[in-house]
Amino acid sequence: MVSKEDLNYIDRENDSRKYGIKRFARLKTLYQNPNYRNFTIKSPEKVKNIYGGDVIWVDSPEKDRASVGLIYVQTLDGRAAFPAPWEAKGGLTDWYHFREILRFGIDAVGAARNMRRGNNNERPLLLSFYDPELVKYRTNELQKGRHPLGVIITGSGNIDNGIDHLAFRYEGKSVIFTSKDGLKNLESVVKGNSSMSVEVIGKSPRELDMKEMLRILKSKYKVERFLALGGPGFSTDLIKQDCVDNYFINIAPTLSGDNRIKSFFSAEESLPRLVDLELVSLKISKENTGEGGFTLYPHYIPKR
Ligand SMILES: NC(=O)c1ccc[n+]([C@@H]2O[C@H](COP(=O)([O-])OP(=O)(O)OC[C@H]3O[C@@H](n4cnc5c(N)ncnc54)[C@H](OP(=O)(O)O)[C@@H]3O)[C@@H](O)[C@H]2O)c1
Repeated sequence: MVSKEDLNYIDRENDSRKYGIKRFARLKTLYQNPNYRNFTIKSPEKVKNIYGGDVIWVDSPEKDRASVGLIYVQTLDGRAAFPAPWEAKGGLTDWYHFREILRFGIDAVGAARNMRRGNNNERPLLLSFYDPELVKYRTNELQKGRHPLGVIITGSGNIDNGIDHLAFRYEGKSVIFTSKDGLKNLESVVKGNSSMSVEVIGKSPRELDMKEMLRILKSKYKVERFLALGGPGFSTDLIKQDCVDNYFINIAPTLSGDNRIKSFFSAEESLPRLVDLELVSLKISKENTGEGGFTLYPHYIPKR
């Protein structure tokens, strides 16, 4: 029987057809750094075919915390925080990369509180993955639970409309990271929900200790790999606190020019010095036609 989640997955493919995208474009690897060939997550055939090989994920140099991958799609001029991820026009393969390819083998997926929905008319976002073929591979071959742990970050503890996704309420486990001030606002949200817990990682909403979050994820929730979806406030804090180990920042062949749409890195003050990055791989779609045809898939890690 097709579950509600699988329908959700199929739904999105139908949406894509509406936008004129007929099928996934396969990716061609333009560059592969030989130093990181062994950092693979064993991947199913479907992923290998579309992605052009196994997924590569570089671990954190700090062994006491979960490693982090940050995923975004942006326009050439760095605009990322569109209301919905496909609005940057990365195409269907970019969406599948964000929603499925980078999730089947990881232990937790996290986002700031408002990313439960892009806006109030949206389906609740999706801190899990849904392709039935990949779900089967995760549970049978990788021997992991059906859903990655869902992680929500909210300094204020204000989650509008509560936690309403299927994966939160019935099937998956989730944890909310908040501040001491935010804790009181979350009591009613988690009350009576045994699959949900709350952890405090700071005094006030804008003083969250991201490394502490990653240490708790590893020691208490057995999370080795954590995929961070944003938004910009959350990803900026992760970058400023030197927590991002893998940057998966896709570049769609589009221009926006709209400065109201934030970049994934939107610090008010610049970093004390430039952070150098090392390229792990660079991919592009094989079929260079249609939406998503020229989207670039670079994978960088910070030089530490
Ligand atoms: N293109 C992509 O790949 C992509 C990826 C991710 C998101 N997006 C889009 O980005 C949009 C979200 O943008 P947004 O501007 O609302 O996200 P945001 O800046 O991350 O703000 C969301 C929440 O994060 C918390 N937050 C954490 N650190 C913060 C900081 N330093 N400053 C301010 N707030 C901080 C705040 O809640 P608390 O006070 O409760 O902590 C805030 O309400 C969504 O529409 C989403 O679809 C696109």
